[in-house]
Amino acid sequence: MPADSPLYLSLADRLAGLAASGSLRPGARLPSVRALSEQHGVSISTAVQAYRTLEDRGVIEARPKSGFFVRRPRALPPVPATTRPPTRPVTVEVKGIADAVLDLVGEPGYISFGAAAGAPSLYANERIRRALARSAQRHVDSLGRYATSMGVPELRQAISRRAMNMGCGLDHRNVVVTNGCTESVTLCLRAVTQPGDVIAIESPTYFGFLRAMQALGLRAVEIPMEPRRGMSLEALELALDTQQIKAVVAVPTVSNPMGSVMPTASKKRLAELLEHRGVALIEDVICNELAPTEESRRAVRSFDRSGNVMLCGSFGKTLAPGLRGVGWVEAGRWSAEVASLKRSFTGGGSSVVEWAVAELLDHGGYDQGLRQLRRHFAEQVRTARQIIGGAFPNGTRVTDPSGGFVLWVELPRSVDAIELYRRCLAQGIIVVPGPLFTTSTRYRNCLRLNAGASWTPEREAALRLVGRLATEISLEA
Ligand SMILES: Cc1ncc(COP(=O)(O)O)c(C=O)c1O
Repeated sequence: MPADSPLYLSLADRLAGLAASGSLRPGARLPSVRALSEQHGVSISTAVQAYRTLEDRGVIEARPKSGFFVRRPRALPPVPATTRPPTRPVTVEVKGIADAVLDLVGEPGYISFGAAAGAPSLYANERIRRALARSAQRHVDSLGRYATSMGVPELRQAISRRAMNMGCGLDHRNVVVTNGCTESVTLCLRAVTQPGDVIAIESPTYFGFLRAMQALGLRAVEIPMEPRRGMSLEALELALDTQQIKAVVAVPTVSNPMGSVMPTASKKRLAELLEHRGVALIEDVICNELAPTEESRRAVRSFDRSGNVMLCGSFGKTLAPGLRGVGWVEAGRWSAEVASLKRSFTGGGSSVVEWAVAELLDHGGYDQGLRQLRRHFAEQVRTARQIIGGAFPNGTRVTDPSGGFVLWVELPRSVDAIELYRRCLAQGIIVVPGPLFTTSTRYRNCLRLNAGASWTPEREAALRLVGRLATEISLEA
């Protein structure tokens, strides 16, 4: 819970947690407003606001003249079925509307469910500011020099130490610091492909990969995703048998947009499958540290013995979104090519920032921050699923992610997500329509919603309004 969260929201979240864990049973009577205010040492109006918030979320109900009761849980919406993308490769062309949507996702002035990030107050902003100031002070000479293109050794070492948490032993000399995970993935694609080559990707996939593939003139074959377990290995195997696939790009742990985590046995099988065929895996581990258990944080790379897995990460999801410009790649047997491509395309980053990030990873309370983020995001997502269950049209399905903070919402087929995006925009609300996550014409009735920002009454009302607008569209169809 962020430090500046209003008191009534903290109280509402605490009570919601008790209801979710079963400590407060469905149908149980809650203390009166006066008793609640006395028990928790808050004012009457704070207690009233906390109960109102829980009523709005559908966690409790007021019964006239009887008081407040824990609601019998409304069935939460079911999780979507495994996706069924087309099996033929297509040249990647990013949808026309994508630029407009992406330019807006981080704009202030909107209630945004767009950018996949937590609320600014969740991150250790003051610690980061101090680390940056200390780094500039300590390394003032470096401001007058060009950085080395591979990144400062301290950061490369810190990254290889952290990779141990994903089961990976990386030689820090092969770690290249990049301009974010997008650059890491792009460098890997450049190292292993020529224009026209076919890449297997998850479907739906993170739209940034599609942009990189379009820029490189690549073709994509989309592989079905099971919302909890990730990419279908049977479908991938079939694609590998029938097409000349140069590489696979995947987020096996806390995928975007589905939030799936591939089971450990499947991660192992994926590593073996690709090693056997000599096909590169570009593994994005940007959200691994947000997965709930040590086991689930394990990377596919930890099972690879042949240097076939190129590992890509950054710190925008775990340290602070504003540090998204610091990423890294360890490209296995393509390490030399990737280092050379890094020299060719972007030279180097900012050493002062890299030293600060190294300090934050090693000594800056990073692990404690991660534990807080995991807890907070799980609570945020639970609330979002409850609101969606109560306010979205019948027939809506929503993922139940195993970590992270984005939700993939499948609306009834009659709801056109681009029309819904436009209507939301007119109300000052940003959502990301499903077609941005595919090269195909699929997911026209889907949305990605970021639930990472803290809930306020305005945000909750905005999410309910998205549901009402979706219902309106479904009734017009
Ligand atoms: C799976 C995934 N990979 C990469 C990125 C982009 O990373 P960066 O901002 O470090 O370039 C994102 C951002 O949302 C993402 O979700």
